[in-house]
Amino acid sequence: MAAESSRAPQRAREIMAGASAVTALTGAGISTASGIPDFRGPQGVWTNNPAAARMFDIEAYLADPDLRAQAWRSRSEHPAWRARPNDGHRALVDLERQGRLRALVTQNIDELHQSAGSGLQAPVLEVHGSLKRAVCLSCGWRGTMEAVLARVAAGEADPPCEVCGGILKSDTVSFGQSLDRQLLRESARAAAECDVLLAVGTSLQVNPVAGLVPLAHEAGAEVVIVNAEPTPFDAIAGAVVRGQIEQVLPELVAA
Ligand code: APR
Repeated sequence: MAAESSRAPQRAREIMAGASAVTALTGAGISTASGIPDFRGPQGVWTNNPAAARMFDIEAYLADPDLRAQAWRSRSEHPAWRARPNDGHRALVDLERQGRLRALVTQNIDELHQSAGSGLQAPVLEVHGSLKRAVCLSCGWRGTMEAVLARVAAGEADPPCEVCGGILKSDTVSFGQSLDRQLLRESARAAAECDVLLAVGTSLQVNPVAGLVPLAHEAGAEVVIVNAEPTPFDAIAGAVVRGQIEQVLPELVAA
């Protein structure tokens, strides 16, 4: 890819300068500069190891104890434990502190938005859950991921629920699981009520979340997409910014 100018296109700056109620929709691309690989980008997890997707399929996870043990090892080693927010996350905190953020819908499970300071004046809607919480798939028990990882470190390869003996998992949405309905409703309302839908670091290939973009557009919002690669919704965007998020997003928010 040719060296991208770090100047966000003029149109994107104009749209953002006039925005008073932005709904941001973020994906894995906003966290790559923090050391967390994305899924479908050139160095993505799926790009490099398509078989890894099986850990994220709920039927396979329920059926295969070896896959669960692999998933627990992967959670223990996840780069999110060492990651720190980057200038992309901080730009969205600035937008929120300017009073111009309606909501932050994130597909990410790394809690870097909250670590950066998002969520004090506008909701952070974690539509795919969080790696830092654990849940029992049978009784619904919830607790901290760190507590369960301590059991893994102590030798339990696939720790069962201590309440009911059921299968434990990160409190994240796997393929085959449904999203939290309340979160989805809040996200849809935020998309319908915003004046700009700002999609950042997402390939917009996973539904129902990707559907928030056309929903906002049909409700009359301008769409701004900041992403290194094309997305299926570039055609309805008022502006598409091909650049490194951590460089261009601060400029767009400052505008
Ligand atoms: N700057 C700009 N764009 C970037 C950067 C960066 N620094 N890093 C990565 N990208 C872009 C990639 O080019 C890619 O198009 O971010 C996008 C990330 O897309 P995906 O890897 O598909 O991640 P995401 O859209 O969040 O995936 C959605 O799919 O795997 C499931 O549940 C998982 O929440 C995830 C969902």
